[in-house]
This record gives sequence, structure tokens and C-alpha cells, in this order.
Amino acid sequence: MKKRINIGLLGLGTVGSGVYAILKKRRRELKRLVDADIVVKAIAVKDLKEVKNRPELKVDPATVTTDAAAIVHDPEIDIIVELIGGREPARSLILEALRHGKQVVTANKEVIANDGEEVLSLADEMGVDVLFEASVGGGIPIIHPLKEGLVGNKISRIVGIVNGTTNYILSRMTADGISFKEALKEAQKNGYAERNPDADVEGGDAAAKIAILSSIAFNDRVKAPQVYREGISAITPDDIRYADEMGYVIKLLAIGKEEADGLDVRVHPAMIDKSHPLAGVNDVFNAIFVEGDAVGEVMFYGRGAGSLPAASAVVGDIVTAARDIQNNDTGKIGCTCFEIKPVKPIGDLVSSFYLLIESNDKPGVLAQVSKVFGDANVSLASVIQKNGAGNSAQLVFITYPVKEKNLRAAVAKIEKLEVVKKVVNVIRVESV
Ligand SMILES: NC(=O)c1ccc[n+]([C@@H]2O[C@H](COP(=O)([O-])OP(=O)(O)OC[C@H]3O[C@@H](n4cnc5c(N)ncnc54)[C@H](OP(=O)(O)O)[C@@H]3O)[C@@H](O)[C@H]2O)c1
Repeated sequence: MKKRINIGLLGLGTVGSGVYAILKKRRRELKRLVDADIVVKAIAVKDLKEVKNRPELKVDPATVTTDAAAIVHDPEIDIIVELIGGREPARSLILEALRHGKQVVTANKEVIANDGEEVLSLADEMGVDVLFEASVGGGIPIIHPLKEGLVGNKISRIVGIVNGTTNYILSRMTADGISFKEALKEAQKNGYAERNPDADVEGGDAAAKIAILSSIAFNDRVKAPQVYREGISAITPDDIRYADEMGYVIKLLAIGKEEADGLDVRVHPAMIDKSHPLAGVNDVFNAIFVEGDAVGEVMFYGRGAGSLPAASAVVGDIVTAARDIQNNDTGKIGCTCFEIKPVKPIGDLVSSFYLLIESNDKPGVLAQVSKVFGDANVSLASVIQKNGAGNSAQLVFITYPVKEKNLRAAVAKIEKLEVVKKVVNVIRVESV
């Protein structure tokens, strides 16, 4: 048994500084839990000035370096905690740490969702573990429950609100009827959105997260690029208002489902019934809804980002990694991805759809549009017609469940009708 477990912290930014603070604050309690002192022996940053500018962290300058590789190669370090983010150099540093037989903890969804196979296979080969609880849902425990507590279930679906930035924007649009651009600006002002918000707003962040969750839940290896994704930048205040009138709210959903003919994995805005628990998840909060054949429905809810919430998940992983070192039991967590299942193309998805169409305000328009739907075997569950500005009218349709490719073919024909000015939006209605 070791008396001291040495941590090499790669990154001392938002999450890294939270981890440093928690390890310091709970040093005594953690020591009891693992029977060893957990000590941050070395810290890597990009720019030493950044650390000097943050005296409140009370970091010993002698422990800080810009040479992350030297930490990874240090034989006295037991656990590498990678909190740099992005694909490189994070991926290479993680691989190098594994080659040196170290336990690895990371919050890096990009590396896990794209390079998970390489990383987890090497860990397996080396008899060590890679833990990544903070990579999805920030402070919400979800990876560990899927791998351990829910393992007695066949999971049929996971539906999550896993991106705080987009949830904040949609919540603000819903609460105050403001536009996407106004809500984004507000999110940026409040520090909830990056200056370049594309990864969040266009669904890339959520796609990486649902790839990770689906890989674990369905024992497959889903990579981020396999996830169909659409962002929220095309959502208009009209869509939000009509959704409300019809009993729905719009959320950016990350969905993973196992069906008889393959996996359905996607990220897109969707209308969900106001009575569903996910409909009440607002602002920067995240929630993940899981359905298993034994447990039924469970929902995990909490802060999906932020220094201390994310650090809470990282510290949980550090303790697991440290305990396994103490018990001489490393390399047992392993990868749960032992099957190969096809990911279904989005065109095969069967869903209800909401369509908002702007047309000329003339008699017979509704009949023409309805005929195209009828010819394409798209059945309509409800229709609303409203006068718009000038000689425009707005037609709002909700369809019965239909194959996406049939719906898209009908939309292409509707766009060509002379009386139709524009198909403003097509949004899936998700029966969660
Ligand atoms: N922020 C959250 O709420 C949150 C939540 C869940 C998961 N995560 C994940 O946690 C990870 C870290 O995110 P973060 O928000 O803490 O990032 P961050 O604030 O940008 O911090 C990154 C840290 O890495 C250091 N760094 C960058 N390049 C480096 C290099 N080549 N060598 C050594 N150090 C380097 C930076 O150094 P300087 O200090 O010198 O710039 C900084 O300390 C990411 O994978 C992210 O996706 C974040």
C-alpha cells in the first residue's frame, strides 16, 4: 500500500483549478477513503503567467511547468489528470501516460468520443484504467451509473439535454420570446457561451457526449462523426410560440436508441411535451433520461458545467483510480464496447414532424400543400393557419409518425409550389 498517491495535473484552467481546490479542501477525508495522501505533485499549463495571475489558488510555483510531457514521464506520478481539452496534445499525452503504466483521469469528451478505441485498448493492454466521468454532464454522475449501477438493464434509450449553452439560449427564447441572436449575445455576456459558439450551438459538443453515452449503454463503439446533428441557430421565435400553443417546448436533444435494425443516434432540436420531466430542465442545467428494461425510467439532473461541478466528477474518478492502485486492482474497469452495431441513417428515422410554412394568403393554398402531403403518404395530425404580415399566411402542420426521407421528399415538392414563399422550419416532435 502506498502512503502517498501522486497526481500530475495537466491543465489548471476552469476545471483544473476546481480539482486543485477540492483536493486541497478535502485532503483529510480523501486520505481516509484511500488510505493514502492524494497530493498534486506537478501541474502543467501553457503559460506560466496565467498561474501568477491567480494568487488565490495558492499553487506552489515549484510544482508548475509548461512541460506536460515531463510530468507524464515522471516515474513518481501515479495518476495523470488530463484537463487541457481538445484532441491534441491531450490525446498524445494520455497515450504516453498509459504507456508509462499510469492511471488516467480525463474530462475530455473530444478524445473519448473520437479516439476512445485507441485510448481504452492501450489502457487494457497496459493493465490500467481511463476514467472520464466529467466528459458528459459535468457534475452529474452518469458514466459510472451506466457502467455499474444500471448494468443489470438492457438500456433501450437515452435522451439528454447535455449542452448548457444551447439550453440557456432556448430557455431565454421561450421565456421572453427573444430571437436566437439576442439570446446568444446574452449567453456570451453572462459567460455561458464562447466567443466562437459553433461547437455548442451547432450540436458538436452534444454529439460527442451522446456518442460516449451510447457506446457505454449499447456496448458498441459510436464515434462522434457517426452522430447525425443539427444545431439550434435556425429556431425562430415563431417556432417557440407555436410549440407553446400546441403544448410543446423546444429543446436540443441528444438521443441514443437501440432498435432491432441498429442504433439511432442523433442531436437536433426537438419539440417535447410540456409534461415531460426534460421539458422543465432550464437555463444551463443538464439532464439525462435513461430507460432500462429493469429499472424503467430514471433521470439524472444537475449542473453540466462549471469549475466545481466538473471538478466534483473528476475528483470522484481520482479516488476510484487511487483506490484501484491501493488494492492492486488497476485495469479492471475496461471498455464496455464489445459489440458492433450499425448506426441507422437519419432518413430511416420514423418521427412526427412540425412544419412552419410561409405562403401567399390566398384561398386553396392549404389544399395544395395538403395534397402534396397526401401523395407522399404523410398524414397530418393537426393544422393551424394564421394570417402573417402583408399578403402572407403561416401554415403550421404536425404530422403523424412518418419516415424522415418521405417527409423530406414532400417538403422538397412543397418548396416548389408557386403559392409557397418558404418552408421556414421543420422540427422533429419527439415522443420521449
Ligand atoms: N469548463 C467546464 O465547465 C467543463 C465541464 C466538463 C468538462 N470540461 C472539459 O474539461 C477540460 C478542460 O476544460 P477547461 O474549461 O478547464 O479548459 P480551460 O479553462 O481552457 O483550461 C485549459 C488548461 O490547459 C492548459 N493548457 C492548454 N494547452 C496546454 C499545453 N499544451 N500544455 C499544458 N497545459 C496546457 C491551459 O494553460 P493556461 O492556464 O496557461 O492557459 C489551462 O490551464 C476540457 O476537455 C473540457 O471539455 C469542461
